[in-house]
Amino acid sequence: MTENAIELKNLTKKFGDFTAVDKLSLDIKENEIFGFLGPNGAGKSTTIRMLCTLSTPTSGSAKVAGYDLIKDSAKVREKIGLVAEKMIMYDKLTAAENLRFFGKLYAIPKQKLEDKIDELLELVNMQEWKHTQISKFSTGMKQRINVIRALLPEPEIIFMDEPTLGLDPQTTFSIRDITRDINKSDVTVILTTHAMIEAEALSDRIAIIDHGKIAALDTPQNLKNLIAESDTSVFGAKITNLTPKLIGKINSLDVVAAVAQQDDHNLKISANGTDALNQIIDVIRLEGGNIASITNSNDSTLEDVFLAVTGKTIRDQANEKAAPTHHRHGQAPKARIR
Ligand SMILES: Nc1ncnc2c1ncn2[C@@H]1O[C@H](COP(=O)(O)OP(=O)(O)O)[C@@H](O)[C@H]1O
Ligand SMILES: [Mg+2]
Repeated sequence: MTENAIELKNLTKKFGDFTAVDKLSLDIKENEIFGFLGPNGAGKSTTIRMLCTLSTPTSGSAKVAGYDLIKDSAKVREKIGLVAEKMIMYDKLTAAENLRFFGKLYAIPKQKLEDKIDELLELVNMQEWKHTQISKFSTGMKQRINVIRALLPEPEIIFMDEPTLGLDPQTTFSIRDITRDINKSDVTVILTTHAMIEAEALSDRIAIIDHGKIAALDTPQNLKNLIAESDTSVFGAKITNLTPKLIGKINSLDVVAAVAQQDDHNLKISANGTDALNQIIDVIRLEGGNIASITNSNDSTLEDVFLAVTGKTIRDQANEKAAPTHHRHGQAPKARIR
C-alpha cells in the first residue's frame, strides 16, 4: 500500500491582507514526482517554503513524511531536502568543500560524508570536478552541485523549486534526467515550474495553481483528456489584421471563456459549446478581421488546459514582454472542465 508522502489540509499563507496560498488541500503519494505548475506569483515557492518549515502557515495544516509540519517540524526537517530557487554556494570553495561544509551542518559522520560526496558526484557525472573551485563552473554545473547538496542527508522527500530556471536546454535535460534518477532511488520529488514542458516531462501528477488555489489536479494525460471530454474547445486563430478591439469583441461572446494573444497575428481562444466556432468566425468577419486560419486541435496540450482552467496563458505572467490576455472583467474562466 502506498502511503502519502505529504498531506495538505487548507494550507494557507497570508502576507498582510494578501493571500498567497489559499486553502490548499491535496495529497502527494510516496515515490511520486508531483509538479506544481503555475505562473509567477501563483504561490508555488510560498507553498514549498511552508512545507520545508521555512515559513509558518497562517492557517491550515500539513503532514510531511508522516509528521505534522508545525508540531514536529524538527522531524520534518530530517526527512526532506530542498533545492531552493536561489543557489547557495561558496564560489571560492571546491565542489567537495562545498558539499563537506553543508554535510557538516547536517552532522553526517566524516567517512560517511566522504563516501556520500563521491556517490552523489557520480550521480551527476561530476567526479572529475570534485576539486575544482565552484567559480570555474557553468551555471548548469553549479546547479548539479546545488541539487546533490539537497541529497546529502538522504531525504525521503526532495523539493525542487524551479530547478531548471535560466538553464540552457542541454543542462535542462540533464537536470531532468537527474531528477528521474533521484526519484528512482525511492525519493518523492515535489517540483515547481512555470514551464508546461517541464511539468509534463517529469510529473506523475500536476497541480495547476493560480492565485494560490488549485485550478486542476491530475496526471498530464488526464488533464489533457479533460478538454477532449468536455464541451470546451481551444481554437487557434490566425488573423492577419488583429487589433485589440477585435480581441475584445471575440472575448465578449458568451461562448468564449478566454482569449490569449500569442503574437501579432495568433490567438488561442477557449470556448464552450457546439456553436462556438460559428459565433467566433461570425464576429471576426463582422469586425472586418481577415482569418488566415482557424484550427480546433483535438490533440490538446497542457497549455490549452492551462488556458481553459485559468483563463490565461502561462506566458502572460512568466514573460512580461508577452501580450496581455484579455479577461472578461476579472471573472473566472467559464470553462466547464473541473
Ligand atoms: N515575504 C513575502 N511578503 C509579501 N509577499 C510575498 C512574500 N513572499 C511572497 N509574496 C507574494 O506572494 C505571492 C506568491 O509568491 P511566490 O510563492 O513566490 O510565487 P511563485 O513561486 O509561484 O512565483 C506573490 O504575489 C509574492 O509577491
Ligand atoms: Mg517561485
